[in-house]
Amino acid sequence: MIFLVINCGGNQEKSSSSESTAVKPSENGITKLVVNSNDLMQFDTKELRVVGGSKVELTLHHTGKLAKEAMGHNLVILKSGVDLSSFAQRAIKAKDNEYIPEDDDVIAHTALIGGGQSTTVTFDAPARGTYDFLCSFPGHWGLMQGKFIVE
Ligand code: CU
Repeated sequence: MIFLVINCGGNQEKSSSSESTAVKPSENGITKLVVNSNDLMQFDTKELRVVGGSKVELTLHHTGKLAKEAMGHNLVILKSGVDLSSFAQRAIKAKDNEYIPEDDDVIAHTALIGGGQSTTVTFDAPARGTYDFLCSFPGHWGLMQGKFIVE
């Protein structure tokens, strides 16, 4: 049995809007992002925006009830030029690593979580540009994907 470190961060306000978001002001050089996911294989946003040069604190909530093994979600940000479809294919074979292939294609990723869980990852914003993000759980990327934009 593997226990993940689940970090709720004490900051549980739900993002009130699912519309595409304006860039969040950074506090002390940290851009905080919150993404919700659910049992219907959905993220609540298709677009994340951060301030170039900031640190990013990305929190993923799973508001559903299904277990990680059945409806696990993560949020993986790919380096530019990485093909979503081929990455997702490789991810399927990386079950032992929470569907993160051991290669060099990832800028940052969260832990894989199930219903009722939350997880946070902190990383440096990459160079200005637009990147793809997805959930790499098998079969999810078609619905669970979007753009990560560094302004
Ligand atoms: Cu998923």
